[in-house]
Amino acid sequence: MAKPSDTMKDLVGLCKRRGFIFQSSEIYGGINSCYDYGPMGIELKKNIKDAWWKSMVYERDDIEGIDASILMHPRVWEASGHVAGFTDPMIDCRESKNRYREDQLEVYVPTSGEGLMYAFPEGKPEAIAKKIKRARVELDAYEVKPLPDIDVSQYSRIVGPDTKEAGTLTEPRLFNLMFKTFMGPVESDANIVYLRPETAQGIFVNFHNVREASRQKLPFGIAQIGKAFRNEITPGNFIFRMREFEQMEMQFFVKPGTDDDWFDQWKQMRLDWYERVGITKEKLRFHKHADDALAHYAKAAFDIEYEFPFGWGELEGIHNRTDFDLASHAEYSKKNLQYYDQEAQEKYVPYVVETSTGVDRQILTSLCDAYTVDEENDRTVMSFHPRVAPMKAAVFPLVKKDGMPEVAHKIVADLRKDFRVFYDESGAVGRRYRRQDEIGTPYCFTVDTETLENGTVTVRERDSMAQERISQDKVLDYLQDRVV
Ligand code: GLY
Repeated sequence: MAKPSDTMKDLVGLCKRRGFIFQSSEIYGGINSCYDYGPMGIELKKNIKDAWWKSMVYERDDIEGIDASILMHPRVWEASGHVAGFTDPMIDCRESKNRYREDQLEVYVPTSGEGLMYAFPEGKPEAIAKKIKRARVELDAYEVKPLPDIDVSQYSRIVGPDTKEAGTLTEPRLFNLMFKTFMGPVESDANIVYLRPETAQGIFVNFHNVREASRQKLPFGIAQIGKAFRNEITPGNFIFRMREFEQMEMQFFVKPGTDDDWFDQWKQMRLDWYERVGITKEKLRFHKHADDALAHYAKAAFDIEYEFPFGWGELEGIHNRTDFDLASHAEYSKKNLQYYDQEAQEKYVPYVVETSTGVDRQILTSLCDAYTVDEENDRTVMSFHPRVAPMKAAVFPLVKKDGMPEVAHKIVADLRKDFRVFYDESGAVGRRYRRQDEIGTPYCFTVDTETLENGTVTVRERDSMAQERISQDKVLDYLQDRVV
C-alpha cells in the first residue's frame, strides 16, 4: 500500500500534470502556500461551489445569497474581535530562522528532570527520535509534553526541531493573522484596512439590508462564497492551509432559545451534504471543540473532519455564534440590529448558527477521495462524483475517417451547450480512455462503424469500465440524467 506521503506526492504530481493545480508564480520559484487552479481545477472548483450554492440558496426558501466586498470598514474587525483576538502564539528559531506555532510543537522531556529537551512538530516525532538516539539516550527516558506546558525559563534546554544546539527558540509572541494594507495613497495608521479573514462579517453587517430587501422573517440565512486571507504562521499540506483561500459560509439567524435545535439540525444537514458530492462516508467524522478551545465568538462548535492522507483535518465548522456578532456590531456602529418579531410581538438580537467551509479544502477532499490507483487495469482514476467531475464527457471517433469525426463533432456541439466535454481523435482508443480516467471524466462516447450503420454509440463508464450502446440522439439525455 502507498505511504501517505507518497500518495500526496503522487497526487500533487497529477494535479500539475493534468492541469488541476499549479504552484503560484512557479517560474519565479513559487511563493509559499499560494496555488493557482488550472483548466481542470477551475472546473472542479466551480462544480463544488455550484453544488453548495444550489443546496443553500436555490433549494430552500429561507436562505438568500450575497457577495460582500473583501475590504471593509476597519471598525468591523474591532467589533468582530479580530483586531484584539485573532492571534496565534508564534515562536522563532534564531538559528534556522524557521517559525512555529507554539501550540503545534511538542517536546521530549527527560523524566529525570535534567538534560536536554527536544521539540518537534505535533504528530511528527520521527526526526527528533533519531536525534535522541544519535545522542545515545533511550527514548523511554522521555515523556512527551505540549510546548505550552513548558515554562519559558526552561527554553534554554530545548533543542529546536531544525537545529542541533539547545536554546535557539524565542519566547512565544502573539501574532495577528490579519493581512494589513493601506486605503489610498498615504501609508499611515489612519488608513489601515484589512483583507477580510472571514466572509462572515460581510453577512452580519448586511443583516437588515438582506432581510428587508428579501422580506425574510426569522429563521432565515444568508450565504456567501468568497476569498478570505490569513497570514498563517505554518501553512502547508498543499492547498489544505493557504494564506489566501476561499470560503463558503452561511449564517442562519434564529430566535434565541431555538439555537441549540438549529445547531443540531445544521450539523446533520452539513454532514449529509457530503454524500451529494460523493465523499466516502467512512472518511468523515465530527470533532467537538472542547469548551476551553472555542473561538472567541462561539458557544458551541463542531468540525466535520476528513481523513486526508496526512491525517484527520478540519473540513467544515458548525458554530453557534450566539448574538455575539450582531450585538457587537450594534455597539460599535451604534445602529439597532434587533429583529422585531411580529408574531411574538417582541424585539431581540438574533442568534446565529454558522456553517463555514473552505472551497480549497473541499477541492483537496474531492481530489484525495477520488484518487485511485487501479493496478489491475494499469491506470490511475480520479473517481469524482459526476456532479463535481471537471470534464463531464469525452467523445471519440474510433478512427479519423469514414465520416466518424463529423458525427463525433456533431455530438460534441450538442453537449457543449450544457456541459464541459472533450473531443479526442488522437492515438489508440484505450489510451484516450486512460487520459480521461486521469482527470475523472465519468463517460466516454465512441463513434464507430456501427454508429454509421444504426445510429448507436458506445458509452464507457469510468469506474467499472463497462460499456453499453445507446442511440446517438439520446447522448444528451443520458448525460443529463447522470451528471447534474
Ligand atoms: N467564519 C468562521 C471561520 O472563518 O472559521
